[in-house]
Amino acid sequence: MKEKIYIGVAWPYANGSLHLGHIAGCYLPADIFARFCRMQGKDVLMVSGSDEHGTPITITAENEKTTPQTIVDRYNKEHTENMKKMGISFDLFTRTTTDNHAEVVQDIFLTLYKNKYIYNKSVDAFYCNNCKKYLPDRYIEGICPYCESEKARGDQCDECGKLLDPQDLQEVKCKICGGTPEIKTSEHLFFTLSKFQKKLLDWIKNKNHWKPSVFKFTENWLKDGLKDRAITRDINWGVKVPIDGFEDKRIYVWFDAVIGYLSASKEWSKRQGQPDKWEEWWKNTDSKHYYFLAKDNIPFHTLIWPSIIMGYRKELNLPYDIPANEYLRLKGEQFSKSRGTAVWVPDILEKFDVDAIRYYLSINMPENKDTNWMWDDFVAKNNDELVGTYGNFVHRVITFTHKNFGEIPKLGALDDLDNKAIKKIEEASREVATSIENCSFKQGLRAAMNLAQFGNFYFDQKQPWNLVKNDKEACATVLHICFKIVNALAVIMTPYLPYSSDRIWSILGHKDTIHNVNWDLAFEELKVGSILEKPMPLFKKLDLNDFASGEDAFSKLDLRVAKILDVKDHPNAGTLYLLLIDLGKLGKRVIVAGMKPHYSRDEIKGKSIVIVTNLKPATIRGVKSNGMLLAADNGKGVCSLLNPGDSSPGSKVYIEGVTTEPDKVLEFEDFKKVNMMIDDKQKATYDGKVLKTEKGDISSDKKIEKGAKIL
Ligand code: MF3
Ligand code: ZN
Repeated sequence: MKEKIYIGVAWPYANGSLHLGHIAGCYLPADIFARFCRMQGKDVLMVSGSDEHGTPITITAENEKTTPQTIVDRYNKEHTENMKKMGISFDLFTRTTTDNHAEVVQDIFLTLYKNKYIYNKSVDAFYCNNCKKYLPDRYIEGICPYCESEKARGDQCDECGKLLDPQDLQEVKCKICGGTPEIKTSEHLFFTLSKFQKKLLDWIKNKNHWKPSVFKFTENWLKDGLKDRAITRDINWGVKVPIDGFEDKRIYVWFDAVIGYLSASKEWSKRQGQPDKWEEWWKNTDSKHYYFLAKDNIPFHTLIWPSIIMGYRKELNLPYDIPANEYLRLKGEQFSKSRGTAVWVPDILEKFDVDAIRYYLSINMPENKDTNWMWDDFVAKNNDELVGTYGNFVHRVITFTHKNFGEIPKLGALDDLDNKAIKKIEEASREVATSIENCSFKQGLRAAMNLAQFGNFYFDQKQPWNLVKNDKEACATVLHICFKIVNALAVIMTPYLPYSSDRIWSILGHKDTIHNVNWDLAFEELKVGSILEKPMPLFKKLDLNDFASGEDAFSKLDLRVAKILDVKDHPNAGTLYLLLIDLGKLGKRVIVAGMKPHYSRDEIKGKSIVIVTNLKPATIRGVKSNGMLLAADNGKGVCSLLNPGDSSPGSKVYIEGVTTEPDKVLEFEDFKKVNMMIDDKQKATYDGKVLKTEKGDISSDKKIEKGAKIL
């Protein structure tokens, strides 16, 4: 029987878009591992889904004045699509709001209750008198008793990772109204984590293969002693508690989420039409279970989930390895939705090829320490390594052979360097395999890149462009070996760069996709005589200037409110006005504007508008314009000014979360990179965020279609 590998990947909260921190933290490493295992002929079951319960969701819904269901539907859809596009090859990506999940959670809950691992107890809980509700988890914030971070939540401190009880927090505040909550008693159900202390200590004894950070973290926790934890909440969004008297409470989100690993396996089996198939992974002692997650999730996977399994059914497999990653940061700051510092997956998928993103995330993976996403480094690594080394080797081999042979040529007599090349292929494939087996993904990719580098060296040494003129047979041998290298690279790169590998595979004349090949056999499968088509480069060079990150571009603008004092016709152009505008403290100026077809003189005079003040002055039909007004254009002849309400002249126009550092003189080219538009509520937006002044939001003066461009 094929070896069974189970891969569980942390379930992302369905309360916002995915950012690259999520991908580098767990989805990409899990996918590299899964793809590799499949190529090794193992039977992989990889599951995850949206984490759709708990206060992360209800708070987002309240902020958006909508229902939790709306929020989770939106992000489950988006996450599912994004995972697919990023090439994350789940067998199932489901959600925690399915009936199947609720059944499995409630079954486990009841079993633990019967086995005396769950008991009830009255506890002091925070209650906000202003908001008239209990404040679980993320509804309160306070000072962490362990690390003194000020932003600790009711259940966990993000800074030091400790699990907390609400009562542990100091200086507790209500997240909704900022008030100080009072303490009220509430009846809750507790999970007897303390009863698993000894079993867990025994269990981790032989976990020498764990990452030192994961092992130490877990060991320290056990040394401190495990406390029982409340697993119900005063909230009405979540899995119902299957015990009388708890109708108005719900199961704690973390308790339900980790059970997703089992419920998703069962759901997958049902969908296969073989409802018991999950047992091949969960009840078979030869099956290994891997869990991929980022460091803040460690205790839930090394302590809580194993305890739940131990207390529920002894025959179910416990985790084998939990290779948790550190964080990917953006210029040193943690990717974070709330702070607006993130590279969002939906955005980046629009701009770059998936393999380019996967390459940088893999070579820069936060395996043992935090790493940074740096745009200039992304461009440099893409251009120098992916394009310059790997892409270049593959491209020159195929182009040269296509031109001179038209097909993959035969092997002739070998010399030392040829033999060395063949040895290099074997070594690289072995090193990549061992690295991935050990979850050292960076090392694996480096080994693969070394082979590409060797390929270039071999090609340069052999100079096939000379051989082709006087020894065509020797030239054929060189190219044959180059193709062996290309073939090997396609195979060993597949876990990392699935799309380009598949393209190479088809260029090499293989009919089936590379994802079905066997890792060991693939190296022997060069198709001599296969006709080569004219090749296209595999990867694209990037230019930092083409995509200077949007927020940077916006932050270069100096946008101000201006009042139109006077209007004159342009002396030399029928559609242009000369506007005398007042910018408050910044003084008065004249600008040229093409508003005549859209606003009469009387209409426009006295209006407040929005001006780009730092745009390089331009002379338009003989008159110098010292700035440019912003207007929305629907592309069909309707043009509307922006209306800043009653903000005073000179007021700054900004978007939430972006600090502006205007250029002294802004080039028009840079201005063009900032794509602003009107949204469905007639507001002016940039990157989904509304432009505003201290006095309020900026909207369109006349009604205009959503999506109208602001120019
Ligand atoms: N939603 C959690 C987070 O984003 C992770 C849940 S992992 C699971 O931090 F194990 F609970 F599924
Ligand atoms: Zn409150």
